[in-house]
Amino acid sequence: MTKIPNPRVCIIGAGLAGLISARYLQDEGISFTVLEGTQYVGGTWRYDPRVGTDEYGQPLQTSMYKNLRTNLPKPTMELRGFPLPEDAPSFMKRETVYKYIEDYVKHFDLEKRIKFLHKVILVSREENIWKVKHQNVATGEEFEDEYDYVFVATGHFNKPNYPDIAGEKLFTGTIIHSHDYRERDNFKDRRVLIVGAGPSGLDIAIDVAYVSKTLVHSHHSKAPLKTVFPEHYIKKPDIKEFNTTGVIFEDGSYEDIDDVIYCTGYQYYLPFLDISCGLEWDRQCVKPLHKYMVNIHQPTMLFLGAIVRACLVVALDAQARYAAVLVKGDFTLPSKENMLEEWNRKVETIRTNGRPLSDLHVIADAEDSYYAALTDESGIERVPPHMMKIHKLLLRTMFDNLYTFRDYVYTILDDENVKVSIENETENTRTV
Ligand SMILES: Cc1cc2nc3c(=O)[nH]c(=O)nc-3n(C[C@H](O)[C@H](O)[C@H](O)COP(=O)(O)OP(=O)(O)OC[C@H]3O[C@@H](n4cnc5c(N)ncnc54)[C@H](O)[C@@H]3O)c2cc1C
Ligand SMILES: *[C@@H]1O[C@H](CO)[C@@H](O)[C@H](O)[C@H]1NC(C)=O
Ligand SMILES: *[C@@H]1O[C@H](CO)[C@@H](O)[C@H](O)[C@H]1NC(C)=O
Repeated sequence: MTKIPNPRVCIIGAGLAGLISARYLQDEGISFTVLEGTQYVGGTWRYDPRVGTDEYGQPLQTSMYKNLRTNLPKPTMELRGFPLPEDAPSFMKRETVYKYIEDYVKHFDLEKRIKFLHKVILVSREENIWKVKHQNVATGEEFEDEYDYVFVATGHFNKPNYPDIAGEKLFTGTIIHSHDYRERDNFKDRRVLIVGAGPSGLDIAIDVAYVSKTLVHSHHSKAPLKTVFPEHYIKKPDIKEFNTTGVIFEDGSYEDIDDVIYCTGYQYYLPFLDISCGLEWDRQCVKPLHKYMVNIHQPTMLFLGAIVRACLVVALDAQARYAAVLVKGDFTLPSKENMLEEWNRKVETIRTNGRPLSDLHVIADAEDSYYAALTDESGIERVPPHMMKIHKLLLRTMFDNLYTFRDYVYTILDDENVKVSIENETENTRTV
């Protein structure tokens, strides 16, 4: 691909992914516009007590709940070159993170580059240019701009994935998705069923169990969960079916249930991508992408944050730096053939292991090698290996005890070493 002179970039979304990208494009002196469908920055980190649609009739994007604290410790939540407040705790409350994002926007003076209430409705590729159609959600007015690059930063924890369970229509209790979970008080003295044991399922189970009458947790997680739950917590296998009053599980057992919270994850949802973008997407995945990011058939389109099971903020920061130097023309991508070959190998591995294609977005154990690969290809400063170490230690403490994993403090000693300590218990300090 030849270098594009004076490129114009469209960033879709002003959540963390879009904002971090904006900051690095600005650093490089590249011209860009951020189109954001709501009137706020921060995407999912902006708590909204409402569910459903907003005042413009648009689906609420946020999945935050009132008592949320981060599930990652401070060093992995810090944006490069913008330290978190000294006095912020190891695992911050959502409002602390949101304030930090707002401060980031002020510090880098990004607001003037964002068109709020402009929702992107169509992105198409015509004659070597991107046409981006967007609509002012307040007035309904439509616009179309041309860009050389498109950064898709629309998040992927905002479109709920609902399971399809027999008899659901018969059930007379309430059913919500974790996307619409806001506060536990609604579940006081209720018999609540939580479905799923991903990050949301585990966290919401703990939150609700403080007030609910019973907490039935249906999941098939193979994670080595050792938490000792309170007595009214009942572990169950997958659901077989609903009837009017409750749920029958795969093992034939039954529980009376008042409320169900599906913590069954989110889908990829990119309805604005025209077929000319050269991508395929469904609820499970977007394909084909090079390095979880570059649209292989139209490599001037990049996806920021289309990854799961990583230190997301750190990964986003690395992706945004890679994207900025790519646009600047500091490095060239591998050939399309090579990118496709690597992609096909990845798909093949997933198929032979009998894994779902959603694994195409999973980073997990490959996190450190991913950072190394981004640096190899683009020359960006490498994310130090301690990030991966923190993540591993964190998972261990989390599996050990969901009630106490947030008591640990992670201190970075150098690029390789991390100190883990429990607040006020210095004898437990260990270095790894
Ligand atoms: C409940 C929950 C807890 C989490 N906890 C943590 C945590 O502890 N630590 C962590 O690192 N990560 C956590 N995450 C992950 C979190 O998603 C990331 O931290 C980060 O917010 C991702 O940012 P994003 O910009 O990719 O997406 P989002 O924050 O979803 O932002 C996307 C933005 O794009 C806009 N948008 C969408 N479609 C359009 C369109 N068509 N046109 C214009 N604008 C559009 C949206 O309005 C939104 O502002 C959590 C996520 C959830 C849901
Ligand atoms: C639902 O099924 C369970 C288990 O079979 C049963 O005990 C319960 O009475 C059923 N509820 C109704 C309203 O039929
Ligand atoms: C740790 O000690 C400090 C000062 O003694 C105290 O303010 C703080 O609440 C303690 N933290 C915990 C988790 O006990």
